[in-house]
Amino acid sequence: MKGQLITLEGIDGCGKTTVATWLAQRLTNSRQYDECFPESLLKRSFVFTTEPTNGDAGRLLRTKMQRCEDASSKVSEETSPEMEQLEELFLFMADHADHLAKTVKPALKKGYVVISDRYSDSRVAYQGATLRDVIPKSMDWIHDLHSPWSTTPDLTLFYSIDPTSAMGRCRFRWKNATSGSTNGPEKFERVEFLREVDENFRILTKKEPKRFVIIDANLDLEEVEEETLNVITKFLSDKKYSRKPIR
Ligand code: TYD
Repeated sequence: MKGQLITLEGIDGCGKTTVATWLAQRLTNSRQYDECFPESLLKRSFVFTTEPTNGDAGRLLRTKMQRCEDASSKVSEETSPEMEQLEELFLFMADHADHLAKTVKPALKKGYVVISDRYSDSRVAYQGATLRDVIPKSMDWIHDLHSPWSTTPDLTLFYSIDPTSAMGRCRFRWKNATSGSTNGPEKFERVEFLREVDENFRILTKKEPKRFVIIDANLDLEEVEEETLNVITKFLSDKKYSRKPIR
């Protein structure tokens, strides 16, 4: 059986990470106890993954994205913000290469269904925004940088939410975090910036309407979760979606 790659995308606070955690539980651990488990999915094995990863570049990125107020994190006088944005893009791409080599391609080769919480569209949408004034047509440029070597998803779920509500959810997360990395706003958690990223994601959905399915993430969590499972079940049951063997 051929592997398939499904990606989950959206702005910070859209809820996709909560949905991905639920989905992992639903499609793996609890399937044997569930009489209503979709039959078409019973034969499939799933791999759940995320970008940034927990590899070297991914860990470095997560540290960098914590918005630290201490003096050591201030932009040094010798570096320009433009170069920092480029450095960030290439770190995300290094992490993506590592993700493809170690997780995505081997799993697809084995015929697994890979579900990734964020993937290359995050780069096009987020770094397309940070590099908007540095690189002409930044979104197209980032897309083209990936094309020769990356694997395009078979299906992408875009969690659509009003950026102001998304920011509200991020604030709730900061207030309720007790420890770990989610104890304060991350670099991109600002409403004006998320609005731009949201606009970029919408451009992508219009460019590739066959690949993208838009999920209304303003709904209650349970509805969003059920809708996610419905879309994935339908997709995996539809033979015409079977991907070609990967290189
Ligand atoms: P994370 O804490 O995983 O947030 P979320 O749960 O919302 O996915 O951090 C991921 C952050 O990294 C998020 O703000 C989006 C950003 N990002 C990029 O800017 N470019 C990328 O290519 C990727 C994969 C993530």
